[in-house]
Amino acid sequence: MVPWWELEGKALDWTKCLLALSFALATSAAFAGMPPRGGTLESARPGTSWDNPFERPRDLTGRSVKTRRVRAVRTEDATLAGGTAYLMQVDPWLGYQRGRELTLREFSSADGVFGESGRLAGARLEDGATKMAGRDHASSCAMCHNTPWRDMGSGATFAKNGGRGRNTPHLFGAGLIEMLGWQGRSQLLAQADTGGDGWISVREAAGRQAWLTPVSGAERISFGRFDDADGDRRPDLDPSLAIWYVDGAGKRIPWARTLRDGGVAGYAFEWQVFGHGHHRRQTEHGAPVPSTLRAFTAAAFDLHSGLQAFDPIILEDPDGDGLSGVSGAGAQQFASAAVRDRGAALDGGGISRDDPDRDGHGEEISAGDLDLAEWFQLNHPRPAERIVSEAARRGRAAFGRIGCASCHTPDWELEPGRSDSKAPSSRGFGDRRFFDLEVSAAPETGELTGGVVTLARRDGARWVPRRNGFRVRGIYSDLRTHDLGEGFAEVQFDGSVVRRHRTAPLWGVGSTAPYGHDGASLDLESAIRRHGGEAAKSAEAFAELQPAGREELLAFLRGLVLYSTEDLPCDVDGDGKIATHFIVSGQDTGRERLNPEWLFRVPGRIEGPVTAPDGSRVVSFALANVDEAYGSRLPLLADQDGDGFADWAASAGRRARMAR
Ligand code: HEC
Ligand code: HEC
Repeated sequence: MVPWWELEGKALDWTKCLLALSFALATSAAFAGMPPRGGTLESARPGTSWDNPFERPRDLTGRSVKTRRVRAVRTEDATLAGGTAYLMQVDPWLGYQRGRELTLREFSSADGVFGESGRLAGARLEDGATKMAGRDHASSCAMCHNTPWRDMGSGATFAKNGGRGRNTPHLFGAGLIEMLGWQGRSQLLAQADTGGDGWISVREAAGRQAWLTPVSGAERISFGRFDDADGDRRPDLDPSLAIWYVDGAGKRIPWARTLRDGGVAGYAFEWQVFGHGHHRRQTEHGAPVPSTLRAFTAAAFDLHSGLQAFDPIILEDPDGDGLSGVSGAGAQQFASAAVRDRGAALDGGGISRDDPDRDGHGEEISAGDLDLAEWFQLNHPRPAERIVSEAARRGRAAFGRIGCASCHTPDWELEPGRSDSKAPSSRGFGDRRFFDLEVSAAPETGELTGGVVTLARRDGARWVPRRNGFRVRGIYSDLRTHDLGEGFAEVQFDGSVVRRHRTAPLWGVGSTAPYGHDGASLDLESAIRRHGGEAAKSAEAFAELQPAGREELLAFLRGLVLYSTEDLPCDVDGDGKIATHFIVSGQDTGRERLNPEWLFRVPGRIEGPVTAPDGSRVVSFALANVDEAYGSRLPLLADQDGDGFADWAASAGRRARMAR
């Protein structure tokens, strides 16, 4: 094929092109009696070197979002091609990549981005009036979750909670944290809920302590006690356990704040494994930030980008027990995370017209979008360890010896799922991911290489997660909160003080400066020296180490790294080696690496070597078969009229067929 810029062998007159194009757009819009198809491509770049860049913008590196914005359609039936059950089970890498695109896409006005820019938003602080954050400030998740870019890394600090702001954590391994959260929540509940009805009565709580054992044989971690020993009318549990109060029938009383409020017979809780931590009072009427990836995503889309999700899964709680639906990827959701778009007004296709931010766009994020964004984050690879020097190994030993590991718990165990079990305490256990990326460092050079390990088994056309157990190594957090003293005390906008923060998981910490919930420590050493309060003793022990000893400990921490999942040399086909010339669909893609596109059911076919407009030869990673590979013409993804909704979604049959 001849590159577009070489057509007819002469350079194009760009101004003429532009004029002609804008005329064409204006007239076609006028004739059709509708605005130009705003937002059809916007920031997406599906084109190759031979496409007309006005019609199909290109990116020869192949790294840009390639599909047009089409809201995904949530399904539970994997035979409906293009629905989210299909994308997670029949073509799981495509589901992963489309979920990833949702975190990378720069949403446009045609998608309904923003609407209330600059307003204050979020939960109210202790004065009952001051809001927690500003809103509508980023058109993509990747603007903040930025290092490494394209991988939901760590990043920006922004105005949230208080004037010092909050720093963006990375999401490598976030799915493992979510799964530990549900498992731990179930185990804790079972310790006090002797009646097995899903909540803890005042009588059941009496005299009981809350403990979790991260891995069998390890020291158990205290989460406080289930009863109210200090007399403040609230269970004395660690604030990472966000409480909701219930009546004698186990129904959630949303307004109740203490055990003595009218009608309160007991309580239940969710384990808030995400977020840096919140004021104790805020965690006593449900969660100030959501506890699941799905709900966190819905909240983030709304807060940061003014895109409100309509999601029956998070909203539905017919029996009022505080637990809402279970996502397609298997994550129990909580009613406390109810989103603003309640679907009070649905059109014929079942699309919500609530439009909470009144920007004229309904259902800005669909339940299907949340399925895919959740699927991507659930499966996102975990950080790596590049601990190759003897010094770094000694540093790891010192980390345990001086008490850092008493909070920064190295390992957790994910128990296998027991599908035969009816016990609610083990429902939803086991590893729900479809792959793991095992990354190791070469002993001499420290070069990182990876290998894809499949965690799903084949069942006909579907891939079904095996739900085995998984040893989560090197996470370095007890996932509960601690008071680290004045250095970390967070004065919120209203003057109230958050003293307890979640133990920052240290995996990846070598790549994620700056540090602390506020990002105020610019390097590792100052983050450690800032520890006081409950960590005072180990911080002193660190300060008393010989300089060489401190350097060893820092070398260990610097070896806990993130990496670019798509640049890492990686065995993706499971043949035990990393090819120098990895051939996909007949094209040499260079060194073998984890580009999800090459693992699609219809693998992406790269364009290969081309001559660029400046005359240089480059290997174009643009896909020659982008529509086939990304399934853009599948029945539940096709969007002929370019309105951002799959045509199928607009058909009347959708409501009936869509499994809720
Ligand atoms: C304006 C910057 C910003 C943008 C944009 C942003 N985030 Fe975040 N994200 C943060 C910050 C800051 C936190 C920590 C919040 C806290 O603890 O108060 C966070 C936390 C998270 C967490 C919890 C991780 C953990 O370990 O605590 C998830 C999940 C998440 N974000 C997902 C998303 C998704 C999905 C998007 C896009 C829809 C997004 N974020 C967009 C700044 C951002
Ligand atoms: C009492 C529990 C506790 C002990 C002991 C402890 N830490 Fe921490 N650590 C925390 C908590 C809680 C945070 C999060 C503080 C915040 O952001 O407000 C944290 C944060 C950190 C951070 C910043 C991470 C990031 O991503 O921002 C580093 C680095 C760290 N700890 C290293 C250490 C080292 C090294 C030691 C031993 C000298 C240690 N910690 C001992 C609880 C502890």
